[in-house]
Amino acid sequence: MTDANADPDEASGIRRNEPGDAGRRKFLEYSWKVLAAGLVVDGAWTSYDLLKPSAAAGFGGIVDAGSVSDYSEGTVRYFPTGRFYVTAADGALVALFQKCPHLGCRVPFCDSSGRFECPCHGSVYNVRGEYVQGPAPRGMDRFLIKVQGDKVLVDTGHLAEGPARGVSSIPSDAKGPSCLGESGGQASGGGMSAAEPPEGTSG
Ligand code: FES
Repeated sequence: MTDANADPDEASGIRRNEPGDAGRRKFLEYSWKVLAAGLVVDGAWTSYDLLKPSAAAGFGGIVDAGSVSDYSEGTVRYFPTGRFYVTAADGALVALFQKCPHLGCRVPFCDSSGRFECPCHGSVYNVRGEYVQGPAPRGMDRFLIKVQGDKVLVDTGHLAEGPARGVSSIPSDAKGPSCLGESGGQASGGGMSAAEPPEGTSG
């Protein structure tokens, strides 16, 4: 028996708009728009954050290493928070990881010899970080370096192995006295730049 009062649409599964549905739909549309706008802003901010080099960024990120004009021929600049040096030699910039590829001591630059000299076991590298002498297996490791306009940016998230022993693209002779003592350790008053106590295996 059919119920004379039954709603024919309900019986067929059709749901018609009720008074108030239009308001609810508008509210849902508005909510989705707000959510989508939020996602776009969030995504844009994340991209900006990833791409934007920050002077405050430290090791593991992209570090602002100053302007190209800061690097005249022979310049060596040390960036302790990024744990690297940027050197300018023979018209090219190189970003060198401070950690010795032998056993990981921090390698200072010796102003008097014009070379990097490791105070732990006496490995020596030219100003471009290429191997000169000592027990190190290769030249100093380096980071990706990029020049953007006048800005020098160093990506400390990407480390490349230093060149093999025997690779020498510039003259490696010492320009003066070494900072290493007789035993291969650091001599006093040798003019080491950024000379700090060896850090053992820390980077
Ligand atoms: S750690 Fe530098 S020479 Fe050994």
